Amino acid sequence: MGSGIGKQDSISMSDEWVKIAAPATTSNIGPGFDTFGLAMSEPCDIIEGRRIDSGFRITEISGSGSDGIPTDPRVNSVSIAAEQVLKRCGADFGMELRIKKGIRPCSGMGSSGASAAGGAYLANILCGEKLSSTEVILCAAHAEDVISGGLHADNVAPCILGGFTIIRSYEPFEVIRIEPPKDLGMVVALPDVMVATSDSRKVLPEEVSVKKLVFHVGNASTLVYGMMTGDLGMIGRSVKDAVFEPARARLVPYLKEAEKEAMSNGALVSFLGGSGPCIMSFYDGNTKIGDNIAESIKAIYADNNMKCDTWVTKPGIGCKRI
Ligand code: HSE
Repeated sequence: MGSGIGKQDSISMSDEWVKIAAPATTSNIGPGFDTFGLAMSEPCDIIEGRRIDSGFRITEISGSGSDGIPTDPRVNSVSIAAEQVLKRCGADFGMELRIKKGIRPCSGMGSSGASAAGGAYLANILCGEKLSSTEVILCAAHAEDVISGGLHADNVAPCILGGFTIIRSYEPFEVIRIEPPKDLGMVVALPDVMVATSDSRKVLPEEVSVKKLVFHVGNASTLVYGMMTGDLGMIGRSVKDAVFEPARARLVPYLKEAEKEAMSNGALVSFLGGSGPCIMSFYDGNTKIGDNIAESIKAIYADNNMKCDTWVTKPGIGCKRI
C-alpha cells in the first residue's frame, strides 16, 4: 500500500466523500510579484475526495475549461498536491477525486492554484489534519512548480489561508496573513483569451533596474499599510507595477482600454490579475457599484467582438469544507 501517484489501483477500501471549496485568488497585485496574494469569495473550484486503498484516481472533471484538464493523476495539480500531503503524513492510503472547475484554467485567477491548494487541503482533512497550514501550502506550491513552470506560492497561500498574504521568503519558506479591509470590492473581468502561466513567465525580464526596484519597494510597503489599516485610497495608489504588467500587456488584448474604462466607472485601481489575462479592479464597496465596473469592461470587449466573463466579488476566507 502507499500513495504512489503513478498507481491507479482498484478500490477495495472506501471511505466517506469529503467536499471542499477552493476559491479564486489574485496574485502579484501590482508591486508584489510572486509575493502578494488575495483570496476572493468567489468563484470557487469544488473538489471531492475519499480514501481508497492506494494510488490516485480522478473519476470526474467537469466545469469551466475542464476539457483541457488531464485526468492522469501524474499531471493533475489536485492529485500532485494531494500526494505530497499523503507522503508527508506517511498515509497508507490513496485517493479518489472528483473535480468541478469554477475557475477557468489560463485565466490569471489562480485556477491551478485553487486545484493545488484544494487538493492539498482536502488530503490533509483525510489525514486527520496532521499538517500545519504552512505545510499544506508547501505541498500545493510543489504542484504549482510542476504544472506552472516555476515555484510560486502567491496563489496557493491565500487560497489556503484566506485574506491577503505575503510570502516573506521562499527559502526558508515564511508566509503571513493580513485581514484585508471588509469594504474592499473586487471586480474580475476575464476576456476570452487563454494565457498559460508558463508562457506568461517566459516574457519577463531577467533583471530590473535599481530605479524600478525602489519604485516596487515603496509601493509594496504602502500597499501592505493600506491592507492593514483599511486605507482604500492608499491601496489604490499603491497597486503599481513597473516591471511585470508592462512585459505582459501584449498578451492581453484591450488591457489598457479595459483598465481605463474601469477607472472611469468607479475603480480605485485596475490592473492585470496574476499572470493574466484577467483584469482585476478594486473599488470602494461602500460608495461604488461593482456591476458598473464589470459592465464597462464587458462593453469594451463586446465592442471588439470578444466575450468577457465578469465576477463582482470581495476578499474571502480561503478553502473550506462544504
Ligand atoms: N506570480 C505568478 C506570476 C502568478 O505572475 O507568474 C501566476 O498565477
